[in-house]
Amino acid sequence: MARITAGVGCSHVPAIGVAMDTGNTKDAYWEPCFDGFEKSREWMKKANPDVVFLVYNDHCTAFDASCIPTFALGCAAEFHPADEGWGPRPVPVVKNHQKMSSHIAQSLILDEFDITIMNEMEVDHGLTVPLSVMFGEHGVDDEWPALVIPLCVNVVQYPPPTGNRCFNLGKAIRRAIESYEEDLNVVIFGTGGMSHQLQYKRAGLINQDFDTDFLNRLTTDPVGLSKMPHVEYLREAGSEGVEMVMWHIMRGALDDEVTEVHRHYHVPASNTAVGHIILENKKS
Ligand code: DHB
Ligand code: FE
Repeated sequence: MARITAGVGCSHVPAIGVAMDTGNTKDAYWEPCFDGFEKSREWMKKANPDVVFLVYNDHCTAFDASCIPTFALGCAAEFHPADEGWGPRPVPVVKNHQKMSSHIAQSLILDEFDITIMNEMEVDHGLTVPLSVMFGEHGVDDEWPALVIPLCVNVVQYPPPTGNRCFNLGKAIRRAIESYEEDLNVVIFGTGGMSHQLQYKRAGLINQDFDTDFLNRLTTDPVGLSKMPHVEYLREAGSEGVEMVMWHIMRGALDDEVTEVHRHYHVPASNTAVGHIILENKKS
């Protein structure tokens, strides 16, 4: 049986990918941001997942205003890094566990979560940056150390799904994974956030108190946290802070009681507060 052993929460910022791709991670500006991921990379090596189930959001790359699925599951054999303006990132093509993703699509839909099935999709910084920070440098000719099943969530066009819906989807994802017969170690990522606003008068907003409370409650009060209304993310964490609803999918897929094994918080990276947490299910 496949099982979820741990969850990773992790921000994405395009400039983090650029810093890695241009060899600038030791610059004074970037070093403290990347230092906090050293332990995470060691942890990833030890955790050695067969599959990363990666919850992320697209930024008008695979989708534009003509088509806005709330939840879209990647079922293609592979996903190429998209050109977001400066050419595709020089990172490996993302390889799927296609049989498992098809099983998850079936399980979710029969479990009454009507996700969109993506048989062709490019992936942007929302997916590739969390892979880069967690797995470290990998070039175009390398392979990522794990297969990746992408789940794309709409947080760009109002209305995004509620935190509660995301939390319950996480539970359904767990049921789907645990009903897959192959003995696979799965780590689930919830990505995006933390506080940031990229537009208009509050551009540059960062709220460390809110972010810290969010990270604390993710471990101790996940159900209460998942009930937070959208307007609170917008007010406290900025318009793009609502990306954090995706973390509830990761948390919902874990045990009620988890162990926090690592946390990192750094401000700012570009306009964003970088937050990161690793939560392990207690070993049975
Ligand atoms: C930035 C952050 C994001 O989440 C994003 O999608 C694009 C840019 C930023 O801080 O620059
Ligand atoms: Fe974003």
